Amino acid sequence: MTTSQPYALLITGGCGFIGSNFVRYWLDRHPTSRIVVYDKLTYAGRRENLLDLWSHSNLSLVVGDISDQAMVRQTCLAHGIDMIVNFAAETHVDVSILGPLVFTDTNVRGTHVLLEVARELGMRLHHISTDEVYGHIPDGHQSVETDSLAPRSPYAASKAAADQLVQAYAITYGLPVTITRGANNVGPYQYPEKAVPLFSTNALLGEPIPVYGDGLQMRDYAHVFDHCTGIETVLLHGQMGEVYNVGTGREMTNLEMVDIVLDTLGADHMLVRHVADRPGHDRRYSMNVDKLCGLGWAPQFDPKHAVAEAVKWYEDNRWWWEPIRRGVFREYYDRQYADRLAGREEQ
Ligand code: NAD
Ligand code: DAU
Repeated sequence: MTTSQPYALLITGGCGFIGSNFVRYWLDRHPTSRIVVYDKLTYAGRRENLLDLWSHSNLSLVVGDISDQAMVRQTCLAHGIDMIVNFAAETHVDVSILGPLVFTDTNVRGTHVLLEVARELGMRLHHISTDEVYGHIPDGHQSVETDSLAPRSPYAASKAAADQLVQAYAITYGLPVTITRGANNVGPYQYPEKAVPLFSTNALLGEPIPVYGDGLQMRDYAHVFDHCTGIETVLLHGQMGEVYNVGTGREMTNLEMVDIVLDTLGADHMLVRHVADRPGHDRRYSMNVDKLCGLGWAPQFDPKHAVAEAVKWYEDNRWWWEPIRRGVFREYYDRQYADRLAGREEQ
């Protein structure tokens, strides 16, 4: 699915996990495209995620906040941008429980600012959303794109609000927009606050694996590569104003995921600790992905394969995560896990 169409893309959040994987993927498949990464470089935004690509003549970085309307506008004009792809967000549910307001600032107001700039300059906007906007999904159902949104955490609520603003701009102003709602992604360069890189790096360090509650919550662990091809499919073939789910359509429990992590590393299963649950923990996400498959897309990784591949990347790339784990991450880790692991929080 290569195209010679020379898009000039503003990739917001392009130094984060999925954004950097997408930049890498897109430049490989569309080498004549120009990409401007626009990123605030929060703790999750890391220049080293694109270390080998910064010398690429079609890639540049602007350090800025998506809530800064003047700067977004000036960047789009200066670089002749014709499409914004919005990955920028605060993304961790546990962080949103500890300190929710920044989630509204970036995920809601920031997305709103991007919509305003797109409207003023006549640009298309593609927005990266999440399966969490559908809320907890009962057994036997898979979310389809027309389901109503029922978010249950501050993070999910901020993403749902952004989704609805994007759809409102399509309806009210006829702005050319598309939305993808992704399942739990795994793969290279995922900040180790998220379960798969946290459990992998803890196992590699010989530290306990903190499983929330009974560990029977269900997630669709999709490989970030499949998310990138799904976004590409929508950028090239999606219908304006439409929403597309991106996942594998298959879930596993967190305990099954933990088994894959530990078995891939040959680590001891005695490292597993059941700790106090996440408040409001969604029990199950599950999406129907037929609409995107109808555009000719199909995932290449099943969830087991995706998790195992991701774990191997952390095993082989200590250069990337060891400095993170030694830095400010430690402070967050202690706040989130010290009481849980010491059994001082109720299970
Ligand atoms: P991430 O936390 O790894 O990266 C987020 C990036 O956004 C970082 O580079 C950060 O510096 C940047 N950023 C944050 N606030 C900003 C601001 N105000 N202005 C500019 N840049 C800012 O996130 P991720 O996991 O790569 O997620 C990317 C997108 O995909 C998010 O919108 C997220 O909601 C969505 N999503 C993630 C998953 C997942 O499993 N990780 C699944 C579905 C959807
Ligand atoms: O579903 C898409 C979403 O996936 C994205 O929108 C979010 O940005 C992303 O963070 C992710 O959210 P989750 O909350 O599902 O992912 P997380 O990796 O935090 O947790 C995965 C599961 O593992 C979840 O059921 C909670 C559990 N968990 C997580 C952590 C960090 C634990 O049991 N222990 C932990 O320490």
